Amino acid sequence: MEFTDLIQKRRSLRSLAPVKITREMVLEMASAVRLSPSCFNNQPWRFIFVIDPKKLQELFTTLSPGNEWAKKASAIAAIFSKKEFDCVIKEREFFQFDTGMATTFLLLKATEMGLVAHPIAGFNYQAAQSALRLPAEMSLIALVIIGRKSEILDASLSEKQKAMEPVRPERLAPEKFIWFDGYEET
Ligand SMILES: Cc1cc2nc3c(=O)[nH]c(=O)nc-3n(C[C@H](O)[C@H](O)[C@H](O)COP(=O)(O)O)c2cc1C
Repeated sequence: MEFTDLIQKRRSLRSLAPVKITREMVLEMASAVRLSPSCFNNQPWRFIFVIDPKKLQELFTTLSPGNEWAKKASAIAAIFSKKEFDCVIKEREFFQFDTGMATTFLLLKATEMGLVAHPIAGFNYQAAQSALRLPAEMSLIALVIIGRKSEILDASLSEKQKAMEPVRPERLAPEKFIWFDGYEET
């Protein structure tokens, strides 16, 4: 798939149908993730792929009320890292930046594989950390909800979420987030 088509196709959809996610598919996604850049090539990203239906049910109990739709996930990637895994240059800590870039590789690879991969922050941090058996020193940054697009709108979606499903949420115009040659107050 052409890059421009791929980034157009990637959406954080919420109406999901079941799809079998195999260990081979997870490794295919990981093969894209590992090519992501990182400070000193530290590769600070860590992912737990939850594919076991019982374990998925446990993780579903940690979702925020607005993320009911995510209970249709066929897999969930839990994205975590810790400060010490990556560059700390005075006050600048890079682990979240580099793990975020690697997560984008996951989202795009999953999209190329015909899957929906939707990152979420809406979950109970402590409960998810415990369900995943993550030690306290690890930062659980996001969950990526993985499934297949359903043409039937998920009944749990709010009216706003339903309206957002077929149309990509609006983006800032480039003039709102780029400057040439130095910052100027707008
Ligand atoms: C860090 C992060 C947290 C997010 N948390 C949620 C969430 O809890 N629930 C949800 O439905 N979508 C969540 N999203 C998805 C965004 O709402 C979505 O990416 C945004 O509206 C743009 O839509 P698009 O990805 O389809 O282009 C999150 C996205 C990111 C990157």
